[in-house]
Parts: sequence; C-alpha cells; structure tokens
Amino acid sequence: MAKRFSDEFLSELRSRCDIEQIISSYVPLKRRGKNLVGLCPFHNEKTPSFTVYPDSQSFYCFGCGAAGEVISFVKKIENLDFYEAVRSLCDRAGMSLPVDGYDSSIAEKRRRTYEINKEAARFFHSCLFSEEGREGLEYFKARGMKKSTITRFGLGFAPNKWDGLLRHMREKGYYYEELYEANLANKSEKNGSTRFYDSFRNRVIVPIIDVRGNVVAFGGRVLDDSKPKYINSSDTLVYKKSLGVFGLNFAKNAGEKSLILVEGYMDAISLHQAGFTNAIACLGTALTGEMAHLLARYAEEIILCYDADEAGQKATARALGVFNSIGMKTRVIRLSGGKDPDEILRKYGPERFRSLIDESANDIEFALLRARKDLDLSTSDGKMKYLDLAAEVLAATDNKIAQDIYSSRLSQELGVDKQAILARIEQIRRKKKYTQQKNYFRDLQKNSMAENTKTAMQNSTNIRTVKAEELLIACLMKNPDFYRHIEDAVSAEDFTVEDNRAIFAAVAEKITACAGLDFTLFTQDLTDAQLSRLIGICEKNGGLPMTLKTCTDCIDVIRGSREGAAGRVSADKLSDEEFLNLFRKKQ
Ligand code: UTP
Ligand code: MN
Repeated sequence: MAKRFSDEFLSELRSRCDIEQIISSYVPLKRRGKNLVGLCPFHNEKTPSFTVYPDSQSFYCFGCGAAGEVISFVKKIENLDFYEAVRSLCDRAGMSLPVDGYDSSIAEKRRRTYEINKEAARFFHSCLFSEEGREGLEYFKARGMKKSTITRFGLGFAPNKWDGLLRHMREKGYYYEELYEANLANKSEKNGSTRFYDSFRNRVIVPIIDVRGNVVAFGGRVLDDSKPKYINSSDTLVYKKSLGVFGLNFAKNAGEKSLILVEGYMDAISLHQAGFTNAIACLGTALTGEMAHLLARYAEEIILCYDADEAGQKATARALGVFNSIGMKTRVIRLSGGKDPDEILRKYGPERFRSLIDESANDIEFALLRARKDLDLSTSDGKMKYLDLAAEVLAATDNKIAQDIYSSRLSQELGVDKQAILARIEQIRRKKKYTQQKNYFRDLQKNSMAENTKTAMQNSTNIRTVKAEELLIACLMKNPDFYRHIEDAVSAEDFTVEDNRAIFAAVAEKITACAGLDFTLFTQDLTDAQLSRLIGICEKNGGLPMTLKTCTDCIDVIRGSREGAAGRVSADKLSDEEFLNLFRKKQ
C-alpha cells in the first residue's frame, strides 16, 4: 500500500497555504461577500463563475463543475501529481516534507524522464558537431542559423541509424523500456521477441524546454522535402502536447508585455536570432483555452503571426476567439512579401519585421480585412455583403467605442449612413442575445439533469434517492455529531451512486476516527473526481436546513429506494419526456 502523509501534516500545510492567496497568484479574484470570484482557469468563460470559499478553503466553478481544495488546485493548474503538488506547496510555505512520508514512485519516474530527456538532448547536440551530423549542421547553416543560436537552443541531430541514441543511453545506464516511455524509442514485436529502435533518425532535432528549464519533448525535422516533415514527442509523464509551447523558457524572460506567437519552430528560432526574444511557437496544434490561460500568465498581450496562407489565417481567426474569450489582448501581424516570419526575416531583415509589428491590426481590423477579402467593393452587391459581414464583426464586441469608430470608417469608405450601420449592429446584437438566452436555459436544464442524474440513470434508480444521498452527506459534513444517531440506520452499501458510496464511507470513517473534516484531509482517500463531487455537494446543499430530522428523512428515502428497487420502473426505460416529468416533479 502506498504510504500516506499524516493528517497533522496535511492540516498544517492547509493552514499555512491560504487558498485565497495561492489561487490569486494564478487567477485575478474579486471579493463578493465573504467569497471571491474570478474567471475559471479550467474552462473558457466571459463572466466569472469560479468561486473561492475562504471558509472551507475550497473552490467551485458553477460553469464547469471544477472543484477542489488547495492541493487539488495546484495539481490541476500546474499539471502535477499529488506528491509534487504537496512538495510545491511545502516550498511556498517554507515547510519541509516529512521524511519517509510518502510513496514517491511516480515522482521518481518523472525525475528520471527529465534526466533521460536532458541526456538525449546532449547526445543529439554533440552529434550535430560530429562527422555523423555534418549534414544536419549544414542544413542549419543553410537556413541562416548562427552557431550561437544553435547552442542557445540546444539544437541537435539524430544520426541515420536504428540504435544511435539507444546505445548511448544504454551506456549511461538507462533502460530501453524507459526510453520507450519517454517517446525516444519505438518497439516492434516479432516472433515473440521485442526489438527497440530510435524514434528520431536522420533528422535535425529541436528540444522543447519548459518554463522550469527542463527538456520535456523533441521535434525532429527531415533535411529534405520528404514526409512527415516533423516527428514530435507525444504525451509522456512530463509532457502534455496540447500544452506544448516552444521558446517560452526564453520568451518569459524577455521583459516584454507581449508574446509573439508563431506556428513553427523555425520561425520562433529565427525571430530570437533577430532579437525578438519574446517569440514562441505553438507547434502546429490548435490553440486551446488551457493553452491561452498558460500564456496569459506570462504576457498581457499576444501578437499573432501565423503563416500567410489560408490555413494560417483560419487558425488566426480561431485563436483570436480563444484569446478573446479569456479577456486577453491581441494583435495580428499581416505578413506581406513572405509566407512566414522566417522568410520575411531572411529576405528583408529585422527592421521590416519590427514595422510589421508596429502596423499590426487589432482583432476587429483583422476580422474586417478577412470579411472583405474576396469581395468587389466597387459593386453594390459587394458593398452590401461586406456591410453585412462587417456588422456581424462589430456586433461581436461589447466595446461601444470600437463600434462607433469602425462604423464611422465604414460609413466614409463605402458612402453609407453611419446610423444605418449602427442600427444594423444593434439588430444583430438583439437577435444574438435572444438566442443566447434560449440556449442558456436549454443548457441549464440539460446540465442540471445530466449532472444529477447521469449516474442515477445508469443505476436505474431515481433522482430523489440521489438527492437524498447527497443531502445526507452534506448534512454530516456540517454536523458530524449526528452520525452516532444514525450510524446503525444506514451504511455505505445503501447508497446507489458509486461515488456517493465512496464519499459516504470516507466521511463516516473520518467521523468515527475523530479526524477533521477539512477537504484537504480527504485528498488521500478520494479520487479527484470524488473530492470535487464532495465539495460540489456541500456547496449546493449549503443553504438547506440541516437537522437530525433531515438525516432521518434522507435515510428513509435511501432505504426505501433499495427495498423497493425491484418494483420500480428503471429510469433508463423511460422516454425522454417521461424522464423529464419525473425530474420536474421531484425537484
Ligand atoms: P511548418 O510546416 O510551417 O514548419 O509547420 P516550420 O517549423 O515553419 O518549418 P520550415 O520553416 O518549413 O522548415 C509549423 C509547425 O507545425 C508542426 C511543427 O511544430 C512545425 O514547426 N508540424 C508541421 C508538425 O508537427 N508536423 C509536420 O509534419 C509539420
Ligand atoms: Mn513555417
């Protein structure tokens, strides 16, 4: 069995790591009554539904249902495991980790993966300057990379062999299976025996380094036009591809308020070489909200500079939407005279790129330019189409001043009355608002149904029972002294929802053992999902009256459900409409 931290230690950690302070260092929070609210870092939203409760030292998001306490917050936002999150909090609080306190095998594996990556990066880098890597070095030189740039980024070369890296790492004491897990080796099974071979062969290598300076992944590019152009590490213990950014380790120290976001490794490297040390690359993956949040920690503004082709422009429009939704400022560079930043720099030099930054458009200008792209504005038809699209663009912003400025411009440019344009914008906004509201209520109904009843449906029981189970748990969390009055009347096995059963068992055990009921003390007994469910249950039921009578009523419902289960119609046999009715009645 895994070793555990003691309750005393966790309580101490909890009291020294105030959740309000910890979360504020990642998410701007505003006080609302005795709680704090902010934009949820775990999903995209425009109005804050992420709430921090100093009283219970927990957080709960009404939008996406994310919930937890201080350790689970750090785990989730830093993508750490339990042990590492505890260690990181200890560091902040100036506490030392208890010796022999925990089974740290995963953390140990992770540490080894970092070591392996670092050693592999060293190997690739040294190959680049050996006879084997001559072609690689020539390739970089032909692309205008200086020696100092190559060294700074630790660029390398993977030899044209099946076991170049493998042999080297074996000599250093690492196992093939470990290299396989680090994504540096592949394996093939033949006639019952396993053969390992290098993942990266005959490619120039770009290591990806995270903000803590660890090598976390690699990209390998072919030297010619063969396919695939790049091979990239997929997810490992230390790397999440969807959160992979290249160059942030340097860019975060550039001392700039903005980050220049480009598509390719080569673009980012060229920019750094040309003095734009705030450049980063998103590595060809679609930008996600999670990634935008990560970048928001390091910059106030993102300057987007994707490739000039249609794919790049489409990706720009999408990325703008994501950044907008988290309230991040954006600008867009319009590349002219070259397909990507690397080409512009090589053709015209850094000054040209600097002026492109100065002339960069804001998100509205970008959308307006895109809207008129294929239209002929000398015809009335073209004008009308453009005005319609432009009004859509302007209706999407809440910024009245921007609406006014761009309506004036459009009016002058196209010779159309400004008031007519503003009226059209208003019309679109009203319609949008109506649809939004409709969708909101529809989702609300759907979500509350889904959340409360999905498990119930699977287990063929009804919603009332689920509600009773949850209310009973909330009641005991608030009034642990009730437990001795009811412990003979109900047991975990009576619960119909599996997670509720686990939660009830954990709560009952803590009460019996006279342990505290702080959420943090449950971190080793419940899964993340169960812990956030427990916090959700306490928040949702917090306002209800909770007496001993409440407990016994709940138990009646729970036991009634079990005893009557056989004769009951199972929820999954009901039609949608019948099911909804059931839900409405029992609300
Ligand atoms: P690009 O094809 O623009 O690559 O793809 P690049 O880095 O600018 O390379 P050059 O200048 O043509 O040599 C942009 C990014 O998309 C990812 C890589 O991260 C690349 O940097 N990509 C592209 C892949 O992962 N696999 C591919 O096959 C192609
Ligand atoms: Mn490119």
